[in-house]
Amino acid sequence: MKLAIIGSGKIVHDFLTIIKDLKKTELSAIIGTERSVDVLQQLSSEYHINEVYTDFDQALEQGDFDTVYVAVPNFLHYAFAKKALEHGKNVISEKPFTVKYEEFESLKKIALEKKLVLVEAITNQYLQNYLDLKQKVSELGDLKVIESNYSQYSSRYDAFKAGKVLPAFDPKKGGGALMDLNIYNIHFIVGLLGRPQKVSYLPNIEREIDTSGILTLDYGKTKAVAIGAKDSTSPVVETIIQGNKGSIVVNGPTNEMPSFNVFDKDKQLIEKVDHNIYPHRMYQEFVEFEKIIEENDLATVKIKLQHSEDVMWVVKHALASAQLKLE
Ligand SMILES: NC(=O)c1ccc[n+]([C@@H]2O[C@H](COP(=O)([O-])OP(=O)(O)OC[C@H]3O[C@@H](n4cnc5c(N)ncnc54)[C@H](OP(=O)(O)O)[C@@H]3O)[C@@H](O)[C@H]2O)c1
Repeated sequence: MKLAIIGSGKIVHDFLTIIKDLKKTELSAIIGTERSVDVLQQLSSEYHINEVYTDFDQALEQGDFDTVYVAVPNFLHYAFAKKALEHGKNVISEKPFTVKYEEFESLKKIALEKKLVLVEAITNQYLQNYLDLKQKVSELGDLKVIESNYSQYSSRYDAFKAGKVLPAFDPKKGGGALMDLNIYNIHFIVGLLGRPQKVSYLPNIEREIDTSGILTLDYGKTKAVAIGAKDSTSPVVETIIQGNKGSIVVNGPTNEMPSFNVFDKDKQLIEKVDHNIYPHRMYQEFVEFEKIIEENDLATVKIKLQHSEDVMWVVKHALASAQLKLE
């Protein structure tokens, strides 16, 4: 794919470290703001990105790319993705897909009508450990309880406490713990069980934003809890799946899925699984995106969009249950 990146922040720097291994990706353009033009130029020269733009309209008119990677703060995903699709570009959007469910629906409609690829960059859905875990859960019998915790004290929380509100903590920019870290837990759980019957969110709110919170997902015979925290953490950040015949413990956060252990119902270790094929968590998703885009594999896109839609449904109802308003 001929890729244009929008943004030059933390995740773009991270992503660019794997670009040398993405053999089917040509970096065509990077797009950002006037205030970050030095960073854009520096990334362009370091990673041999042909074109630099500070105006997305101009990039769409003049740029030589077929796919856009939307890596800007959450509240901007929708506008950039919509414009890109309307100009006939495939879109890879960072998580969360959009802030509002209706925005996601609108993007989906345009992409399907125009037969374009539209996918969410959500690492865990593509990691081999997660794909293997999906097979292994059938060995646990009836699933009873899932507890998924992704807590990571954020350096941006210190800035927030000091009075500086960065997008990750800004309710007007789709920030907060649910949209940031807990979204991985939601993807993890929904990827296993689909759309729940009911959800409820219990957030810790500071200055109108959830700095941490506990989400419950009710599947009838299975109950799940998703914990996301940007204001606290602990040495144990893991996910536990309990069935009546055994359990699985994921040894680490749900964005990386570093490894997992399978236990029988007597708590004896049966198997340790660590099959991720590349150390960087973003590699597998982008290899898959390269393939989907090369083949214009719209059947896979539809499956991925259904999953993202179920996640967006959970987010919508979680926010409503806590009367949290994100713009
Ligand atoms: N950080 C992570 O580890 C991580 C992991 C996975 C996913 N993500 C997702 O990636 C997205 C970006 O997160 P981040 O941590 O990289 O944020 P970030 O460090 O704040 O970077 C955001 C980037 O977007 C640019 N930007 C802001 N407004 C723009 C506009 N109107 N036009 C073009 N560019 C604009 C910013 O430029 P200025 O600096 O000039 O404003 C900056 O380069 C978020 O949706 C997040 O959920 C992040």
